[in-house]
Parts: sequence; C-alpha cells; structure tokens
Amino acid sequence: MSGKPGDRGHLDFVTDTVHHLPSPNPYRRPDGMSEAEFGTAKVKDLEDKILELGPEKVACFIAEPLLASGGVIVPPTGYQKATREICRKYDVLYISDEVVTGFGRLGEIFASEPVFDIVPDIITCAKGLTSGYIPLGAFLLSDRLYERVTGEGAKGKFFANGFTYSAHPVACAAGLKNLEIMEREKLCERVRDLGPYFQERFRTLSDLPLVGEVRGSHLMVCVEFVSDRKTKMVPPAEWEIGFRIMRNTMPKGLLVRPMAHLIVLSPPLIVTRAQIDEAVEALRAGIKDTMDELTREGLWRG
Ligand SMILES: Cc1ncc(COP(=O)(O)O)c(C=O)c1O
Repeated sequence: MSGKPGDRGHLDFVTDTVHHLPSPNPYRRPDGMSEAEFGTAKVKDLEDKILELGPEKVACFIAEPLLASGGVIVPPTGYQKATREICRKYDVLYISDEVVTGFGRLGEIFASEPVFDIVPDIITCAKGLTSGYIPLGAFLLSDRLYERVTGEGAKGKFFANGFTYSAHPVACAAGLKNLEIMEREKLCERVRDLGPYFQERFRTLSDLPLVGEVRGSHLMVCVEFVSDRKTKMVPPAEWEIGFRIMRNTMPKGLLVRPMAHLIVLSPPLIVTRAQIDEAVEALRAGIKDTMDELTREGLWRG
C-alpha cells in the first residue's frame, strides 16, 4: 500500500487499485502557506481523489494517524478528523493503521479516538501489541462491519481471510500479558506524562545548522537533516546522512534508526528522564561530529 519510493524500487505494485495522496507534511508545504491552509488543501486532496475515481469505486482510505516510517510526519491539526468526515460523506471505509501508534507510543492503547477524535471502521495493529516480544498482528472491526461479516446478512458464509498462524495461542497469551503489564505499570499514563519532556528536549537540537526540523509526538521523534536550512534542500544521497549520524552516535551509546536523510527514535515506554537527557546529549555530539566530518571531506560548508 505504501507510496514510499524507497519501498518500490525492486517490487511490482498495483497502480489500478491503490492510489496515493500527496504527503500532508507541514514542513514541506509551499512557501507563504499557513499550516491551516495547508491542512485544508490536503483534506481536499482526498475529496478530489474520491471524486476523480468515483465514490462508488473507492473501497477505503488507509492512513496512519502519524506517518511513522514515512518520517514521523505529523499532519496539520484536524487532518485526521476532516478526512474521516470526507470518508463518511462518500461511504468510504476509514482504516487507521496503528501498527506504530498503537499500544502506548502516543500515550493511549489506540490513538485514533482519544488523540485524534476519530472512530475508524478498521484499526490495524502489531508491534506494541506484544511490546515486540512475540510477533503478533491484529485488525479490529467496528460493530457495523462486524455485523456485516457475522450477522444475518452473512448467513451461510464465513470470513475466511486467515493466516497459518492466525490467533496463535502463544502470541495471544503474550499480547494479553503485555496489556496486563501496561495497565499495571500505567505505561500509557507514563507516556502522556513524559511525552512533552521528550519532545521538548529533542527539539533543542533544532539550533544545529544541519538540522532542518525536529518533529514528532509523545515518544516518537524524527530529526530531518538538510544541507541548507533556507531552501530545506535534502542532502545529496552520497552523504548517506542518516547512516553517518547513526555511525557517529552509536559509539556514544545511542542507536538511532536511519531513514535516508532522517533519523527516527522510538524509545521503550519505560525510558526515564535521565535517559532522555543522555540520548539528546549523545545525538547532539553525534551530529556535531558529523558536521565536522562533512566539513573535513569538503562536502559541506555549514
Ligand atoms: C505503520 C506500519 N504499518 C504496517 C506495517 C507492517 O505491519 P505488518 O508487518 O504487521 O504487516 C509496518 C511495519 O513496519 C508499519 O510501520
């Protein structure tokens, strides 16, 4: 389903049944446009696409509440709710992909309703469902859809979309225990409490000249690197900037996830304030080393 160019180079993919919308990334909005205007334009992209394809041909809209592996993109305020309304208007199902955002990352078991005020028709989830200890994914149906696949209208049919390991008892036991621990240790509350501190501390890195933007929400953050802060120019691919940052940060005890010209961090939900301070310090030092390295190699003039 993904439209990320990096995911597409060596694979076949369908173009007739999956359509993509332009990214709702406020950092890359046109010059002079307010974030609110940008948000309205991105919502209109969805409505225009539905009308272009014909509402009767559009089965669903799939969106992450925040675009995690797309670069921790936080859409403009109200984007999720407005796109949900558009889907309702044209009877298009809204699928909220909470594979990353679910199970505490945004301070809630599911972020869709408490954080973004939307009730999706379907939620997909995985990762945090077992805190990653055992592989388990799940999808949740609204009552309305559940009724359609189990109720009167479904008599004589059954929902046959299963996997070899569907409902694997060991994975499900791990999921249940994980939920029990999350509740017992009040991990969602912890993330809600710690999230603003985490965001505020990482945003202090914005003063570094190689940093274009630090963005995120709760316990997920992304640092976007640019070769020119004014033009927001993406550093040339041969700089391998994400990997450089990772290589320079690792010896300082911090492992970051490189993604092209971005690095992403999603720490464990039990991270402490002291560890957040340590991580920010290590990353600052790693970025400084990288700037020195690029200067020495004659690639960057600051
Ligand atoms: C947001 C998001 N959705 C879906 C997936 C894929 O999930 P699964 O492996 O459970 O199909 C990923 C994997 O990283 C993801 O980050």
